[in-house]
Order: sequence, then C-alpha cells, then structure tokens
Amino acid sequence: MIRLRAPAKLNLYLRVLGRRPDGYHELETLVERIDLADELTFTPQARGLTVTCDDPTLDCGPSNLVTKAASLLQQTFRVSDGAAIHLAKRIPIAAGLGGGSSDAAATLLGLTRLWNLRRSPEQLMELAAQVGSDAPLFLSIHSPFVVGRGRGERCEPLAGPFPPLWHVLVVPPERLSTKEIYDGFDRRERVLTEPAASLSMCLHALRNGSLGELAKGLFNDLEPEAIRRCPVITEIRTHLRTSGCPGVSVSGSGSAVFGLCEDAEHARRAAATLSSSAPAEWRIHLVRTDSSYEAL
Ligand code: C5P
Repeated sequence: MIRLRAPAKLNLYLRVLGRRPDGYHELETLVERIDLADELTFTPQARGLTVTCDDPTLDCGPSNLVTKAASLLQQTFRVSDGAAIHLAKRIPIAAGLGGGSSDAAATLLGLTRLWNLRRSPEQLMELAAQVGSDAPLFLSIHSPFVVGRGRGERCEPLAGPFPPLWHVLVVPPERLSTKEIYDGFDRRERVLTEPAASLSMCLHALRNGSLGELAKGLFNDLEPEAIRRCPVITEIRTHLRTSGCPGVSVSGSGSAVFGLCEDAEHARRAAATLSSSAPAEWRIHLVRTDSSYEAL
C-alpha cells in the first residue's frame, strides 16, 4: 500500500493575460503549496479501478479528477493491473485551493509507483495537463513555490531555500465554479491599466524574505468576479485586515481568502481571534508553506 499527501495551493499572484483561441486563459501565476493536504492511499487489486472518498458530497465517478487521472494513466501505459484508491478529503472543495488537481497529481505519482511504470517526468506532466490546468503545478515537488504560465501547465519551480510563509485561510461555505468565474471575468469590462503589483515584485520579495513587499505584490485578476458571486469575501477580507494581516487575497477562482501573516505567532493569534469572532460557518485554517510533500 502507498500513502501520499496531496497539498493545497494558494495563488500569491494570478494575472490573466488574455483569452486563448481554445477558450482557456493565458495566465501568469505564482503558486505556493501549503500544509493543508488531502491524503490518498493506493492498494493493489487484480483489475479495474475503485475510487472511494470519506466525503459523501464528492462524486467518485468519471468526473472526479482522481478517477480521470487513474484511467488516463492506465490507458496510456496499457496497465492490466487494477488499484483501489481512497481519498481522505481535507481541502475544501471548489474554493480555489487546487484540491482536485493536487489529488490528480498525487494519483499519477502514486499509481506510477504502485504499477512500477517506467515514464519520464515530461510524460507525467503531459498527462497531468490533460486532467486539469493546475495539476502539473503539483508535480513540481522539489520546491513549494512554482511559477505557472500558459493555462497554468507550464511550470517553473523556484530554487530555494525559502523561509516558510504563514497564513490564516478562511473558507466560506459558498463553492465557486472555476469555469463560471472565468466566464464572468470575460463578460466584465476590463480595466486596461497594469496592476501595481507584478510577478517580478513577488519573486523579488520571496527571494529577499520581504513580507511588506510580498504583501503589496499579492494580486488576483479573478478576485472581483469571485466577490461579485460571493460578496461575503469582502467581509472576510476586513476580518483578516483587522487581525493585522499586511496582505490579503482570494486564492485562484475563490471562494477561499488568505491573509499573509508576519510570523507563526501572529498567524496563531489571528487564527484564534477569527475563530472566536467570525461566523460559525466560515472554516478557519492556520497554514504554512508546505515543506514535506513526500509519503506519510
Ligand atoms: O483545466 P481545468 O479543467 O481545471 O479548468 C476548469 C475551467 O476553468 C476550464 O473549463 C476553463 O473554463 C477555465 N480555465 C480557463 N483558463 C485557464 C484555466 C482554467 O479559462 N488557464
């Protein structure tokens, strides 16, 4: 049996550069993997794929990214063996945290090991991109910080080491569809001015450990549309600001919002304050940069 963690991500920076002929959007994004993670177990079975999950709201059928990744790998490498995959879901669903994509990436890694497949990293990246735009980001396991370009699938892991960042993550109950957020983004009139923040600003801040600069660099083009569909995000932003977070942003297409904290102690205090003052239906997580992708 093989067990793997599948970490969530935050988008520290996400700029939409334009719409592509294939309907996807050209992106420039800086992603941080965090220590909030799903857990997957892979067990050999004679044939066929069985996917189960401890969250009854999650469909484990053909639309599930774990099932998609497993079937794709099985077909591509003509594997006759089967596998039973169990997903312990910890990452909130449809919140912009990349949980499904990370599960898919972990499935490719886990089954490659279980079935002893000989494959190149490029082959795996290509399969991941077929499952979802974000999935390749989670295969770049040697650095927790990755720059994504194209539709997100062209990945460049950043050479570290980097000191961990600390965050308070707030997830309201509203689930947002990535496709609908992009569609809404297209319908909105674009402001043609360049944002004050830039990817190079974020990268410079990360390399120099400058939290103030990183806080100013946080940016997400999808945030206005996420707020339009989930207005409570504005209230969450205010709570995080009041807790002293120097930077606050929506992750991906939302609805999760994170606050950048000064250090571990600040993050603990901010998470405790929010837990006692925020509406009970908000999920509050204290999270940090992921430093241990490997098996449990
Ligand atoms: O690739 P994935 O299936 O995760 O994307 C979900 C949806 O998000 C796509 O169907 C597309 O509408 C939108 N998307 C996009 N541009 C991207 C990534 C996703 O328009 N770069």
